[in-house]
Amino acid sequence: MQNQRVVLASRPQGAVVPSNFRLESAETPALNDGDILVRNHYLSLDPYMRGRMEDAKSYAAPQAIGDPMIGGTVGEVLESRAEGFAAGDLVVGGGGWQTHSVSPALAWMKLKPGLPLSIFLGAAGMPGITGWYGVNHICKPQPGETLVVNSATGAVGSVVGQLAKLAGARVVGVAGGATKCAIVKDEFGFDECVDYKDPDFKAKFKAAVPKGIDCVFENVGGVLFDESLKRMNAGGRIAVCGLISGYNGENIAIEQVRSILVNKLLVQGFIVSDHMKLWPQAIKELAGLVATGKIKYRETVAEGIAAAPEAFIGLLKGANVGKQLVKLI
Ligand SMILES: NC(=O)c1ccc[n+]([C@@H]2O[C@H](COP(=O)([O-])OP(=O)(O)OC[C@H]3O[C@@H](n4cnc5c(N)ncnc54)[C@H](OP(=O)(O)O)[C@@H]3O)[C@@H](O)[C@H]2O)c1
Repeated sequence: MQNQRVVLASRPQGAVVPSNFRLESAETPALNDGDILVRNHYLSLDPYMRGRMEDAKSYAAPQAIGDPMIGGTVGEVLESRAEGFAAGDLVVGGGGWQTHSVSPALAWMKLKPGLPLSIFLGAAGMPGITGWYGVNHICKPQPGETLVVNSATGAVGSVVGQLAKLAGARVVGVAGGATKCAIVKDEFGFDECVDYKDPDFKAKFKAAVPKGIDCVFENVGGVLFDESLKRMNAGGRIAVCGLISGYNGENIAIEQVRSILVNKLLVQGFIVSDHMKLWPQAIKELAGLVATGKIKYRETVAEGIAAAPEAFIGLLKGANVGKQLVKLI
């Protein structure tokens, strides 16, 4: 079967450019015992992929030049040599930037039909679980407390804010632009949203958190992180989830370190893939909340595998609203 895939052609120097990728066509390999062949329906594009393109020490090994880009996918099993999997099964796993994947079934999870497949890459998938973990295991917002989350329209941020609202917190989002902020308030139901591109951002952010901040879910780093640190209440919690404003090597130094000491803050970095044991519980809860409309989600969908590089470059510049996907079928 012909597989179309996008491989890493070169490592970026600063911002990612289209020539860092190459579109290729190849026959799918024969299946070994334990493998399944999956026709990927949707590919998930995620900020962590930027880190894998670097040859730098991180929590995961770098992506090898010439290999298909790694990435989460949902799709349908076309052929199986694995016990418990059969043609027609719907699955989620790490299929990579390609139309067809042959890999061990162990790397895939079966999905029950019913809900739209794409949510298992977004609100009820890895990004949603990331939000769920940071809110429930680090931030632990209490009724009446104030939680701040930046990149608030994003796949992670939108779930964070909605879970914190369900827990009774007052939720303030930070996002790029008035249009995104309107979505954060009107669709996701946050109490406030502050546009960090507004020249008066700092004053408006201060006004949006009159009682200070008890929990921060940090997705961005740099100036936005510092502005939150400045406004923390004693005993506050900070889940350091992402630092996207520094992914191209920008300076994201923190100035307000004193706040950590004087407010006795808990600052906890985390990587969602370290908590795989919790994924089934998180997926069940999140899928239930999506199905009942208690969690709303947005998707930005690019069409066809060839569109993946441009869509990924757009994601890193804020062109997406909600989960960035590539539709492959
Ligand atoms: N720790 C973990 O295990 C884990 C797992 C998943 C994701 N993450 C992290 O969580 C964060 C959100 O991920 P996501 O999948 O939900 O992505 P996303 O928010 O859907 O998309 C990325 C968004 O980042 C914002 N952004 C980009 N450059 C920025 C800058 N210089 N300053 C401020 N905002 C900027 C843009 O929104 P605006 O238009 O609002 O700027 C863009 O839309 C990322 O930092 C990611 O690395 C961590």
